Amino acid sequence: MKAIVVREFGPPESIEVEEFPAPQPGEHQVLVDVHAAGVNFPDILVMAGKYQVLPPRPFVAGKECAGIVAAVGKSVTTCKPGDRVLVWMEHGAFGERAIAAQDNCFVMPEAMSFEEGACFGLVYQTAHFALVERARMRPGEVVLVTGATGGVGLAAVQLAKALGATVVAAVSTPEKAEIARRSGADHILDTSVPNLRDALRDQLRQATGGRGADIVIEQVGGDVFDASLRALAWSGRLVVVGFAGGRIPEVKANYLLVKNIGVLGLQISDYRDHHPAQMRRVMGELFDLYGQDKVKPLVSATYPLRDFAAAFAAITTRKAIGKLALTLK
Ligand SMILES: NC(=O)c1ccc[n+]([C@@H]2O[C@H](COP(=O)([O-])OP(=O)(O)OC[C@H]3O[C@@H](n4cnc5c(N)ncnc54)[C@H](OP(=O)(O)O)[C@@H]3O)[C@@H](O)[C@H]2O)c1
Repeated sequence: MKAIVVREFGPPESIEVEEFPAPQPGEHQVLVDVHAAGVNFPDILVMAGKYQVLPPRPFVAGKECAGIVAAVGKSVTTCKPGDRVLVWMEHGAFGERAIAAQDNCFVMPEAMSFEEGACFGLVYQTAHFALVERARMRPGEVVLVTGATGGVGLAAVQLAKALGATVVAAVSTPEKAEIARRSGADHILDTSVPNLRDALRDQLRQATGGRGADIVIEQVGGDVFDASLRALAWSGRLVVVGFAGGRIPEVKANYLLVKNIGVLGLQISDYRDHHPAQMRRVMGELFDLYGQDKVKPLVSATYPLRDFAAAFAAITTRKAIGKLALTLK
């Protein structure tokens, strides 16, 4: 089969699409005939050898895809051959055939396209666990989402809105501001301004009548993290989701004490591996919200598999909006 194969770690443009042996399903596994795969920021870290979990090389990159079940292991009960599914895994999604544990295989709603399915699981599960499991969000709270038109960001904007929050989106361009507004953001903060440290808090206070953010879903790190922490309201919670901007920030514990605030981490793959039943319940809720048109992945561009490096270039140059998908059919 054709696949994006990591032989040596490096940037996407150093990695090739090549022939690779198709995987075979084990007893509890599902083999998927892949139609589309989701492009995610963490794939870049995996290809570069900078991700926290790295398989032995050579391996097929990619964390999620959607397609049709081609075969199942003998103990599989969650799906059957012919079902339209979205699946996710630690690696292996960027090939014509992919294997997933049955726990990580979800039959898609009929209305969901393969491109949407390939771009749904990782970002909406991340947003849901960040808001509900980690931050314990309550309706009426103010939720600030940074990197708000990225994959996780836009999912968090839509989901926080659907769950009854006042949503504030932090973005770097007017075009991204418009996208965030159309996805449900009530207020927009501009992260391209000088002196972000004070300016983000000032903009937020102006937008929220002086309140600040009860919750921050933080994807960017660096100066955006530092400024967001200062913008938390009394008893607020900041969830660390990622460091797309590069710098991993540090926090002084006395600041948390004085402001009565919390900083929490989220690693979604831990829930995937340790709490599959919880994840299946959440996926059911997310599918319901999709059915009600309250969440919907914005797949802003698709690329044939051979052009995958262009998709990742759009991510690293901050040109990507919402989600990008690779098409394999
Ligand atoms: N913890 C978890 O379980 C988990 C799960 C999924 C993803 N993540 C992490 O969450 C972060 C976001 O992932 P994603 O898939 O949503 O990424 P994405 O779609 O590329 O979005 C990232 C956003 O961050 C902002 N950004 C600021 N500086 C950037 C830079 N130098 N390069 C790229 N983007 C930059 C951009 O918005 P502006 O231009 O508006 O600033 C962009 O929209 C990543 O760090 C990823 O590794 C973590």
